[in-house]
Amino acid sequence: MSKQFNLLMLAGDGIGPEVMAEVSRFIDWLSSNREISFDVDEALVGGCSIDADGVPVTDATMEKAMAADAVLLGAVGGPKWADVEFAIRPEAGLLRLRKDMELFANLRPAICFEALTDASSLKPEVVGGLDIMIVRELTGGVYFGEPRGITDLPNGQRRGVNTQVYDTEEIRRVARVAFDLAKKRGNKVHSSEKCNVMESGLLWREEVQWVHDNEFADVELEHILADNCAMQLVRWPKQFDVIVTDNLFGDMLSDEAAMLTGSLGMLPSASLGAADAGGKSKALYEPVHGSAPDIAGQGIANPIATLLSFGMALRYSFDCPEEADQLDKAVETVLAEGLRTADIAKDGETAVSTQEMGRAIVEAMAG
Ligand code: IPM
Ligand code: MG
Repeated sequence: MSKQFNLLMLAGDGIGPEVMAEVSRFIDWLSSNREISFDVDEALVGGCSIDADGVPVTDATMEKAMAADAVLLGAVGGPKWADVEFAIRPEAGLLRLRKDMELFANLRPAICFEALTDASSLKPEVVGGLDIMIVRELTGGVYFGEPRGITDLPNGQRRGVNTQVYDTEEIRRVARVAFDLAKKRGNKVHSSEKCNVMESGLLWREEVQWVHDNEFADVELEHILADNCAMQLVRWPKQFDVIVTDNLFGDMLSDEAAMLTGSLGMLPSASLGAADAGGKSKALYEPVHGSAPDIAGQGIANPIATLLSFGMALRYSFDCPEEADQLDKAVETVLAEGLRTADIAKDGETAVSTQEMGRAIVEAMAG
């Protein structure tokens, strides 16, 4: 039986449109070679949306995002919008999508492909075979906490305020996602916070422990302070299976984990909401990397993170695990054949273009 899905593509800024074009190529291939087709709609987000409509995401685009089976996003931001008002900066479009779609669980797998073990800045024995999953809380914490803002003080100084805040259920629901994932992987969760400094961290630790004791006692749980977690990630990352952490620590730890794999250009992510009665979750997929304005428009960006993000959509939103596995293998194959975009090429290696990489991956799908 053929499958049909609604996909909203938000290419965004910088290298976003270039890497997204390779997903379109892959979707075309799927439509003609598999019983899966996509009703694809496109819209603006980030700086390009500010230029066109004065806001980083319009209400009309938000409506489309809410209605889609999945949203695929490229990247947002760039120096062109450095001076726009803080409330409507490009990143605010992405944050509104996450918040309004209630995508509280952000899955960021860090997998070191065999062919790339020497592309990492760490020793091959440290990163070889690495496969960890960071589960980042995405709709709470200091990113959204109130009060926030910059105020003038009577003494002539100014004060910047953000609030780190978590409620019981916000912690429990993301912890459940982490434990569930761990059961299908290495059965081990590290929960990371700063309970030695922050009350919100103490609550985090207690609530994750509660979910463990009451619902997932068969999964191994360790608590780790976020600074120690950052250090352990570069010391011996293979001790980790699933790491669950808050919005801000997750932002930082996932960039760090990305570099273990060789390049930020390799890392996909999935942001998922709660499942509805029919078991469906709202979902947004995006590469972990940013808009890379320094290389935008040159056709040299690595499309793999975005392609693998679409692969996560195949897995989590479209129920096509076989095609997702096949895509992972296709990426492995082209890397093993020595194909490298500039970000993962070593000195002296010739780098291929964004399009050449995308085309080679689609060809590897054909086998
Ligand atoms: C990420 C990014 C975003 C974040 C930015 C673009 C707002 O760094 O997805 O990791 O901080 O969440
Ligand atoms: Mg980040």
